Amino acid sequence: MRVLSGIQPTGPFHWGNYFGAIRQYIELQEVADEAYYFIANLHALTTVRDQALLRQYTLGGAIDLLALGLNPDKAVLFVQSDVPEVSELSWLLMTGTPMGLLERCVSYKDKLAKGLKADAGLFTYPVLQAADILAYDADVVPVGEDQLQHIEVCRDIAGSFNHHFGQTFTMPKGKVLDQSARVPGTDGEKMSKSYGNTLAVFDDVKAQRKQVMRIQTDSRPMEDPKDPAGDVLMDLYKLVASEEEVADMTALYARGGFGYGDVKKALADAAERYWAPYRDARAHWAAKPDAVREVLAAGAVKARAKAAGVLRRAQEAAGVGGW
Ligand code: TYM
Repeated sequence: MRVLSGIQPTGPFHWGNYFGAIRQYIELQEVADEAYYFIANLHALTTVRDQALLRQYTLGGAIDLLALGLNPDKAVLFVQSDVPEVSELSWLLMTGTPMGLLERCVSYKDKLAKGLKADAGLFTYPVLQAADILAYDADVVPVGEDQLQHIEVCRDIAGSFNHHFGQTFTMPKGKVLDQSARVPGTDGEKMSKSYGNTLAVFDDVKAQRKQVMRIQTDSRPMEDPKDPAGDVLMDLYKLVASEEEVADMTALYARGGFGYGDVKKALADAAERYWAPYRDARAHWAAKPDAVREVLAAGAVKARAKAAGVLRRAQEAAGVGGW
């Protein structure tokens, strides 16, 4: 099994990124024959238009992934732009991608619906993502639910290339976790940097507590029993609390007679305990930026070697190169 996934350096990683995707990266690196994980800085360029900030988020993203348990001896960690073969492959794929396929993609449609002007980068974003996946012959792509559409687009693009030019690309499959495919944010909507409703993985303890206290709840009276199903606090609590703590909290919900403030406090405590070891690991890596750069450089060499082979295969299939 060959695993691949990417994450945009558009800001600090949040609980949705971790519980939806990064946690899978860490689990899958143990069982995959090969695992490729990258910081999608070319994709991030569609939103982060500040060179210093983009660099900071890119290196910061690598530090975060290492701190969260990504092991460079087991997985290839690299920066997307260090593998130019992928951009080249993206063009080959673009020539066979119907406009309608991209017009149906949610991130592009959403932007238009909000009356914002989209650029060609946002429109063709899913094609670059398809190239990311196909360039490494990935068969498993661990992601949150919001990325499944992009993986379907990738499969469409790969299928029509294979159909037209002969078997060239491996068909990938998306992999989501049932419990955390769509982690809610502080307002109950999907947690997302663009909605401003995130809980950051590496916020300091005080800031995190403040964010947790801001989570929106209904205004049911204290003494009423509460339904834990579909309750944002409970959904978040389940991610960071132990099974026993969750069972206790579920019983408390059924009994009633408590306020959401108590639940928020319990959530903030559980979160503090959950993230503490990762916070220490982050401090360790953050103190050694050159070691992180070395990891990324070594990762880029391995990733390029793989992507170059696939690009050559695709070029030959399409009749460019190979004369
Ligand atoms: P990005 O950077 O938005 O998010 C990174 C990963 O986090 C997941 N995620 C969530 N999962 C559950 N609940 C949430 N609230 C939540 N928010 C984010 C995302 O699903 C994703 O897995 N286009 C991709 C980056 C990318 C990529 C790729 C992914 C570029 N090339 C190739 C896979 C394969 C993106 O914007 O992810």
